[in-house]
Amino acid sequence: MDNLDQLVVEAETAFAAALDGTQLEQVKARFLGKAGSLTERLKKLGALPAEERRMAGAEINRAKGAIEAALEARRAALRGARLQEQLAAEALDVTLPGRGTGNGGLHPVSRTQERVEALFRSIGFVVADGPEIETDWHNFTALNTPENHPARSMHDTFYLEGRDDVMLRTHTSPVQIRAMMEHVRHYAGEQTMADVRVIAPGRVYRVDSDATHSPMFHQVEGLWVGENVSFADLKGVVADFLRKFFESEDLRVRFRPSFFPFTEPSAEIDVAFMSGALEGSWLEIAGCGMVHPNVLRFGGIDPERYTGFAFGMGLDRLTMLRYGVNDLRLFFEGDLRFLSQFR
Ligand code: FA5
Ligand code: MG
Repeated sequence: MDNLDQLVVEAETAFAAALDGTQLEQVKARFLGKAGSLTERLKKLGALPAEERRMAGAEINRAKGAIEAALEARRAALRGARLQEQLAAEALDVTLPGRGTGNGGLHPVSRTQERVEALFRSIGFVVADGPEIETDWHNFTALNTPENHPARSMHDTFYLEGRDDVMLRTHTSPVQIRAMMEHVRHYAGEQTMADVRVIAPGRVYRVDSDATHSPMFHQVEGLWVGENVSFADLKGVVADFLRKFFESEDLRVRFRPSFFPFTEPSAEIDVAFMSGALEGSWLEIAGCGMVHPNVLRFGGIDPERYTGFAFGMGLDRLTMLRYGVNDLRLFFEGDLRFLSQFR
């Protein structure tokens, strides 16, 4: 049965030469398949005499067992090699530094708003707000701007389709009316009331667009009503705020006489750029003035006893000045290369 031992060696050699599972299964057929060498031998057993047949059968089965064991060993070796290859290919170096997630940051205009709120809170103002879709009455009429008043055309208003009684508010000034009415309700029936001291930051809308005008922008309204509140108080509060906001003692600020239906007298406030391409040039940041008696009356306050000042400041303009940005539309384009500079 020498040639059976030789066959086993041949099979082992052939299995070892198979480089992957497919090749191995093909080689297997040569030895163990239907037409393989062992099967051929088993078929020939029938022709042998009974005694020899038993011995020969046992020998063939032994050889078959050896070949099957060699096949299984080679299969396992190939599986192991594939696993090693895969492990090497998919290796994960847990010691590499991570890519990390970028830190978010507040929008520069939000930063300005938070700063403005903190500074005014520190001198006793409370923060109020009102709706962005505002009634015509709050946005204009109660601010001493009756229908057909030419001052209504100073604001290019976004109206709502099919409605002329509501609009996107064109300024934060309607919050003056809401704040006064709420204050008066709170002190109803009392002899005296505390001063009204509110700021109201928020979004406002106008049909407007260039380097210093955006169709959606931000204002902060300020209102202080009490006994003996004067224009000197207005100048003092605003000048002090601006020095603190810009952290500059020699900030250049000017009050320019102006007109608003809801204040008398009225002024606009300009601040000069301290840096950037526009250094030295003036930018209007606010309108302001002494609250018109009619407006106090609309708010439910007696103008014979109380006076007040109000201002409406552009938060986006304050942000431009603080960071030396010369086009405010950059704030609303959402370009991270620009915005991430303020993180
Ligand atoms: C007003 O809106 C008045 N309500 C301000 C006011 C309040 C006066 C209280 C008196 C008493 P004006 O239209 O000038 O005024 O706007 C005020 C400020 O908002 C401007 O000085 C400017 O800083 C800013 N602003 C106005 N229009 C735009 C715009 N399209 N884009 C960005 N900022 C603007
Ligand atoms: Mg103006």
